[in-house]
Amino acid sequence: MARSGLFAIRDVGSLIHATAEEGTELKKAVGVTQLTAMGVGAIIGTGIFVVIGKGSGIAGPAVILSFVLAAVACVFSALSYAELSSSIPVSGSAYTYTYATMGEIVAWIIGWDLILEYGVSVAGIAIGWGGNLNAFLDSAFGVALPDAIAKSPEDGGIVNLPAVFIVLAITLLLVRGVTESARANLVMVIVKLAVLIFFLVVAFANFSTKNFHPFAPAGMDGVTAAAAIIFFAYIGFDAVSTGSEEARNPARDLPWAIIGSLAICTVFYVLTSVGALGIASPDQMKDSDAPLAAALDQGAGMSWAAGILALGAVVAITSVVLVIFYGQTRIFFAMCRDGLLPRRMAKVNQRYGTPARLTVTLGVLIAILAALVPLGTIVELVNIGTLFAFVLVNIGVIVLRRTKPDMPRPYRVPWSPVLPLLGVAFAIYLMSDLPLDTWIRFVIWLAAGLIIYGLYGYKHSLVRQRARDGQS
Ligand code: ALA
Repeated sequence: MARSGLFAIRDVGSLIHATAEEGTELKKAVGVTQLTAMGVGAIIGTGIFVVIGKGSGIAGPAVILSFVLAAVACVFSALSYAELSSSIPVSGSAYTYTYATMGEIVAWIIGWDLILEYGVSVAGIAIGWGGNLNAFLDSAFGVALPDAIAKSPEDGGIVNLPAVFIVLAITLLLVRGVTESARANLVMVIVKLAVLIFFLVVAFANFSTKNFHPFAPAGMDGVTAAAAIIFFAYIGFDAVSTGSEEARNPARDLPWAIIGSLAICTVFYVLTSVGALGIASPDQMKDSDAPLAAALDQGAGMSWAAGILALGAVVAITSVVLVIFYGQTRIFFAMCRDGLLPRRMAKVNQRYGTPARLTVTLGVLIAILAALVPLGTIVELVNIGTLFAFVLVNIGVIVLRRTKPDMPRPYRVPWSPVLPLLGVAFAIYLMSDLPLDTWIRFVIWLAAGLIIYGLYGYKHSLVRQRARDGQS
């Protein structure tokens, strides 16, 4: 029976049915390789190329353990994402799952939270892209863009044009269509793995253990604090689930793509952090905008290799912008289609089969953010938003097992509710290590979302309208 209040729940069957409504149907064009590449494309980027430096400054060489801890924290949630995304293969990721499990108001909160997570991180990643591009230009040609057009006002510039450029370029790619975008992503993923392998080969050929002492200068507290930051490096496997409506065979492909992409990245991250410390000290990396390149340059004294790596970082971060932005458009799409945001935005462009209007609108907003806002606090804010989403997704698995025990589940999390509860515990553990400022910003964002829901979504929600019509 439909509920019409704040906790109105979307029926899973109607969710899947709604995807076939005329004018809002997305092309089903994506297979398992492309989905896994989407995950790797979203995961390996700014985290391993940039945030590793800050992490090593906090934890010392024990940042290697921070990578392991963050991966463990992710794996339980990855399983929950796999169960929900394969059972409910509909655009919108955690937003859609909570709509089907915990009701509209919780779904709105998580959808709003995901806008923060994805939208803000795209802007931040784009800024990182611009910084790396500049580092590459500098090392290869000895020319760098002046600060005025390459940094935000707070960082001493006027406008960050490289960041604006990459956001608008990716906007056009996404408008053109998911097949083309996924193919371009696959090429970029191959390039980025090749660059990391290049780094590993050079690092292990020059490896020494001298930087490993003292191993954990800040103790276990340092390891945890660094893990709360390093977590950023793993964000992205959930982006696979935001594309589930476009998957050809979601039941089989989504769990493989989500868990597979997380596993591939974990192996690369742990090896990369060991390799980096094999050639450079935490002090050489912690304040650098391109710590892996700095490790090759200052640590191993190989500036030619540093230049290659900086170029690789530019390519790697491009695919992160692409996939995270893709996820953002699909979550926004789902929220518009449900009437919680203006429904006319969810119209699919007939020529390209993509939600073009919405993509361009988001692209412009993100470009403005990227032009003017500094990178500094973004990582922490994105992390808290994502971890909060993980909490709700894990709870969603437990709730849906009780409320819909007979629903077909192509993939089931083993030992539920133990593993989903571990997912909740790890997410809260990492959240608790983030600064108070980050918590305050996060709470303000959620409060703003509730006001918007009260003024718009509450009145325009299709689910609540239908429930009311059914009852009257
Ligand atoms: N995991 C993504 C990155 O590291 C967000 O760039």
